Amino acid sequence: MISVQNVSRFFTDKKKTITASKNISFEINKGDVVGLLGENGAGKTTLLRMISAILQPSEGSIHLDGIDIHKHPMKIKGKIGVLFGSETGLYDRLTARENLTYFAKLYGLSQHETKARVDYLTVRFGMNEYLDRRVGNFSKGMRQKVTIARTLIHDPQIILFDEPTTGLDITSANMFRELIHQLRKEGKTIIFSSHIMEEVKQLCQSVIMIHKGELIYNGSIEDLYQQEESDDLNYIFMSRIIRGNNS
Ligand SMILES: Nc1ncnc2c1ncn2[C@@H]1O[C@H](COP(=O)(O)OP(=O)(O)OP(=O)(O)O)[C@@H](O)[C@H]1O
Ligand SMILES: [Mg+2]
Repeated sequence: MISVQNVSRFFTDKKKTITASKNISFEINKGDVVGLLGENGAGKTTLLRMISAILQPSEGSIHLDGIDIHKHPMKIKGKIGVLFGSETGLYDRLTARENLTYFAKLYGLSQHETKARVDYLTVRFGMNEYLDRRVGNFSKGMRQKVTIARTLIHDPQIILFDEPTTGLDITSANMFRELIHQLRKEGKTIIFSSHIMEEVKQLCQSVIMIHKGELIYNGSIEDLYQQEESDDLNYIFMSRIIRGNNS
């Protein structure tokens, strides 16, 4: 279980303080697939960076299965896989296979485990044709598949995706959605940010909405529909934003 307790994050930019997260608390159960919604600059990436222990909260704490992730980042490293849409983290000069093998090593996988995972992910993402080509010349979709495979190389229990389908064509975006379905069946806990309401509706049971760094909704989509007497997530999202935290 992921437990986020009173988390705030401040940044200083030219002596001005920016509050990217403001006193956010929620819990996510094992096996949940959660959509993270918010306008540009709402604080989604900041929150995902904190949950993956890349960024320290200014206040509050985040626990994973009872472990404080910022006090013991090494203990949870193997349990989390994270993909930030804007950065692939791949090495252009290496082939797809070399990239995956490199990341497997970082997670301490044995040679045998690495081969098994690379083979499995190659079949799963249909990467066979270009597995031994340099990533530098890959198309966006090819790159994204390798990046997703890299995220999953150590078979993490919790997976965080920051706008995973941005920039993908319809085929690749559909492949990604199918992947989420499969990971969900395997009992993985998934949080992903998206601006595509239809995608969130299809894939998630619950949503977290943030607005200007504050949590404005956390719960099941069904409950939200009932509260708002509507099943138009786009409309609900906009009206919640207008009402802010006073709902
Ligand atoms: N390293 C940083 N230094 C200063 N300000 C930052 C830093 N990182 C994030 N911010 C600020 O925090 C706020 C939240 O940014 P964040 O990237 O988390 O938003 P987001 O919800 O992911 O937006 P988008 O949908 O555009 O990706 C913004 O005002 C942003 O400028
Ligand atoms: Mg972002």
